Amino acid sequence: MASAFASLPNRVTVVEVGPRDGLQNESASIPTAVKVAFVNALSEAGLPVIEVTSFVRPDAIPQLADAEDVMREIERRPGVRYPVLVPNLRGFERALGAGVHEIAVFTAASETFAARNINATIAESLERFKPVIERAKTQQMRVRAYVSTCFGCPYEGEVKPQAVLEVAGELIDLGVDEISLGDTIGVATPRQVADLCQLVLRRIDSGRLALHFHDTRGTALANVVAGLQSGIAIFDASAGGLGGCPYAPGAAGNLATEDLIYMLDGMGIGTGVNLDRVVQASLLIAGHLDHGLTSKYFQAATS
Ligand code: HMG
Ligand code: MG
Repeated sequence: MASAFASLPNRVTVVEVGPRDGLQNESASIPTAVKVAFVNALSEAGLPVIEVTSFVRPDAIPQLADAEDVMREIERRPGVRYPVLVPNLRGFERALGAGVHEIAVFTAASETFAARNINATIAESLERFKPVIERAKTQQMRVRAYVSTCFGCPYEGEVKPQAVLEVAGELIDLGVDEISLGDTIGVATPRQVADLCQLVLRRIDSGRLALHFHDTRGTALANVVAGLQSGIAIFDASAGGLGGCPYAPGAAGNLATEDLIYMLDGMGIGTGVNLDRVVQASLLIAGHLDHGLTSKYFQAATS
């Protein structure tokens, strides 16, 4: 009998979201130069995609108010992609001015979260994205779209898989290149992941689907395995396990990049990422935080 893991993807793209999702919730003031050094260290670790910052309202996410400076000052390694979060046309113009080549828009599968996070209904957010995506496409920019609360909402509880499918489908119709399904508050479990993937994959090709786990309840790595078994080969992660969303009460850190790479390395799944160097990048930011890093691998490697 073939191994249960015989048909997993043999290569995975890890999308590093530490500088954006990781730092956006940090209360300690982190100097721009440290953020720039963090992004550069992550590039050197071999991460192929690094989400650098957000061009959102600076009063909504004060930690990322230096988005222009960070974007302008990072060293861009050839072959590495440096997307940023953009909520609307104003954010797009700012990103364009800072030399951005790739963007990510973001909405949700539940109305209350969309209202709190982006001050819009889901339908309004899609309307808002239309001109942004059109402008991005005229600049030959790649566009990712996040759908938050795919596995549960901090305000509404259960989220219907059909609601996720609808938003994801509409985003694809708007012309986005990739959809990242977010477990914003870290409630997902593997069977739920496999079931949602099966549903969404009927509409969206696996090459255009990513999974974005927060590890609030310790299920993120198990959820990755369920994603791999469903044919997904793009996973978001955050160095050190940094992360959380200010509009998602109780959302702990993202799945840690170190923990993900350790597991994928051990399973023989290639990522091109050097684990020791990710630890070095995490060490660089660790001294500027008012708490420790939650990545298990990081803790083991630095104890
Ligand atoms: P709004 O207040 O509805 O926007 O904000 P508005 O169009 O009514 O504008 C109001 C004022 O904001 C205006 O200023 C605009 O210029 C300004 P005024 O004319 O009054 O002086 N403004 C901006 N300024 C700078 N940059 C901008 C911008 N847009 C408007 N881009 C908005 C709507 C979405 C912009 C706001 O609610 C916002 O910025 N929210 C931030 C949300 C956020 O960053 N959340 C965290 C990221 S999402 C996440 O973490 C989830 C994810 O990781 C996946 C997962 O885990 O599920 C992606
Ligand atoms: Mg997130």
